[in-house]
Amino acid sequence: MQPDPDIARAEAETAQPQGRKLLVKSYGCQMNAYDAARMADVLAPEGFVETSDVEDADLVVLNTCHIREKASDKVFSELGKLRVLKEARKAEGKTLQIAVAGCVAQAEGGEILRKQRAVDLVVGPQSYHRLPEMLRQAAHGPVIDTDFPVEDKFDHLTKPSEEKIRQRGVSSFLTVQEGCDKFCSFCVVPYTRGAETSRDVGKIVAEAEHLARSGVREITLLGQNVNGYHGIGEDGGDWSLAKLIERLARINGLARLRYMTSHPNDMADDLIRAHRDMPILMPFLHLPVQSGSDRILDAMNRKHKADDYMRLVERIRAARPDIALSSDFIVGFPGETEEDFKATLALAHEVGFASTFFFKYSARAGTPGADLDDQIPEEIKSERLARLSEVVEAQRHAFNASMVGRRIEVLFEKTGRRPGQIAGKSPYLQPVQVDGPDALIGETALVEIVDCGTNSLFGGLVEGASSQFRAGGEI
Ligand code: 5AD
Ligand code: SF4
Repeated sequence: MQPDPDIARAEAETAQPQGRKLLVKSYGCQMNAYDAARMADVLAPEGFVETSDVEDADLVVLNTCHIREKASDKVFSELGKLRVLKEARKAEGKTLQIAVAGCVAQAEGGEILRKQRAVDLVVGPQSYHRLPEMLRQAAHGPVIDTDFPVEDKFDHLTKPSEEKIRQRGVSSFLTVQEGCDKFCSFCVVPYTRGAETSRDVGKIVAEAEHLARSGVREITLLGQNVNGYHGIGEDGGDWSLAKLIERLARINGLARLRYMTSHPNDMADDLIRAHRDMPILMPFLHLPVQSGSDRILDAMNRKHKADDYMRLVERIRAARPDIALSSDFIVGFPGETEEDFKATLALAHEVGFASTFFFKYSARAGTPGADLDDQIPEEIKSERLARLSEVVEAQRHAFNASMVGRRIEVLFEKTGRRPGQIAGKSPYLQPVQVDGPDALIGETALVEIVDCGTNSLFGGLVEGASSQFRAGGEI
């Protein structure tokens, strides 16, 4: 006879010491932030309560990022500090368990234990549902799990309580797709997160409904290649991201939907139409282009030309004229000449981005880019980064300044910097501060923008214009 799973779980809960403190430190992308929350959810039934103070923690999980060298290096300097803390605890007869999760765990596996003996367990991004079991094993010696297991981790994750979701705020991430089959020649993601997989629509809807019931008003659908989503729909068919978004839009209580990150080649017609037809879909799209030079785009294995990107932007803007775009750029990819770099600057000028992330190329072991001749010297990378930064930062400031005098809808998330202020986000993810009542937290309202700072906008509530049912951009 199979044991009743609820009884088994109840027994497991009572068998564990209660009140242990957990600190999950997350680095890198939004998907890591989502994973960090889900790890805390998985460990809650084990008696772990979250803390933000490392001195207080019985278990520290470093949820790591491997995308660039600097991000990876952080892990080992952090682990060095934790080792000192662990030794101090030991001298007092107390314990500290240290776990390394995320993409460095996946990429380096057992090497981490060799480099830093204080580590108790190493868990890859596809195995963290196994954390409770691994922790039990770790009591007897170091444990590693960097499998891509046959079971779906999402089926084994614990649902967060409504109270926990409320604590996390009105805006939430939800992973719908994971992994990448694109193999851009600079990128570790296809190796650390594995092949593209999409979650079933039914499971995503159930998670989104639970979030909405618990007060979440905005969901950002996450995937390394999210617009390549194709999951099994409620009718058993293959659903696109646009069809998934249409379904999610019907959930009561949700005011805003977003998605990231997208590849230009997967920007399907139905998704562009969704931007035209669905006010719940925020008019802000992160669409990385990486470079403006065809030669470099080819070497990066991006499989499109600069002009394809420009034409795509035109089609998206024709469908949704108030849409704003953001991008990622890499400067100093192997072989990048001054002329190639100028093509990147020209593309940035031509598109006019509302915000931009820009990085120096970082050679990552195991990726094709790392083996290319003609790696670019660090000083040239730095010089190009500074020039690109000047252009795109000016664009960001101009975009923020263009909000002054406009009325935009704000989703209020928390109390503001000063008493009597509340803070929220514009449709374009700009932080907005206004004088207003705490009761508006969790609501959308129309705000007239009167000033803009380096990162934030400031405005006043437009009297009598609670815009709960007008999710969307500018009114
Ligand atoms: N070097 C520099 N930047 C990188 N990115 C990904 N891999 C690298 C690398 N090896 C950047 C890309 C990507 C973003 C998430 O990180 O711009 O879109
Ligand atoms: Fe990396 Fe390219 Fe896949 Fe994005 S599309 S995750 S940059 S390989």
